[in-house]
Amino acid sequence: MNHIISPLDLSVEELDKLLDLANDIERHPEKYAHACEGKRLASLFYEPSTRTRLSFEAAMMNLGGKVLGFSDQDSSSATKGESVADTIRVVSCYADIAAIRHPKEGAALVASMASQIPVINAGDGGHQHPTQTLTDLLTIRSMKGRLDNITIGLCGDLRFGRTVHSLIEALVRYDNVHFILISPDELRVPSYIRDGVLQKENVSYKEVVRLEEALPDLDLLYMTRVQRERFFNENDYVRMKDFYILDAEKMKLAGPDMLVLHPLPRVNEISVEVDNDPRAAYFKQARYGVYVRMALILTLLEIA
Ligand code: NCD
Repeated sequence: MNHIISPLDLSVEELDKLLDLANDIERHPEKYAHACEGKRLASLFYEPSTRTRLSFEAAMMNLGGKVLGFSDQDSSSATKGESVADTIRVVSCYADIAAIRHPKEGAALVASMASQIPVINAGDGGHQHPTQTLTDLLTIRSMKGRLDNITIGLCGDLRFGRTVHSLIEALVRYDNVHFILISPDELRVPSYIRDGVLQKENVSYKEVVRLEEALPDLDLLYMTRVQRERFFNENDYVRMKDFYILDAEKMKLAGPDMLVLHPLPRVNEISVEVDNDPRAAYFKQARYGVYVRMALILTLLEIA
């Protein structure tokens, strides 16, 4: 059974094929409009989501398939004490593929082990978010033309931001990628990423606190929000939440081709005045999320 729990579940070659397919879907959506007729996606969301859930659902509908599921754990049997493993075992009888988001790290892996159908991790706590990474890679490759030879700044909550962890794991596999990790001391990347990925793979990276210092050198700036729901106390969140605010003034320090990415939702970390800057790519990025999820569903169902 094919599952996507971590971004590393796809080899670089498989990933290339998937991104090619996503670009083809973008150019010729009509070719794929009936590809999943008769198939069902279960969308199991135990945590809030706008983009990920709706883009999965839109992706399945664009392929001619159907969608069932829940968007709130309070409306599922989780409130009665059902385990994720039991839920997925049952959902396997109703659907052909499942996307699952859960507040606990490892939940998607547990689900995949009990499942009869492909499981896609749509975010497990502060751990990983591989389909956001596919979205990010498609955006970078489509807009920059490459995934190698880049300097990327990751800024904000690098500790709890699962999109950051997944993106780093995926990008270290390409040549000549330099990472500038921009965060307050308390929100630096966890050691399983620093020691277990960046140092282990001998990748060039540097950790800085000031965004202004990093901006002139970047090809890409990946902004993230401070992950309020993962903080142990509200005071820490309040202290950290406006640590970085990217505004028009700071954008003057960046090069003319630097792209600004953000997985969204944005809170205050990018001022709305940046939205009109041609380098702001975050809303385009959200659009790429549908194409890449269409490609992923086709690939896991072995239709493409
Ligand atoms: C991200 C997530 O859920 O981790 N959102 C998303 O899926 N686009 C980022 C976030 O919530 O900050």
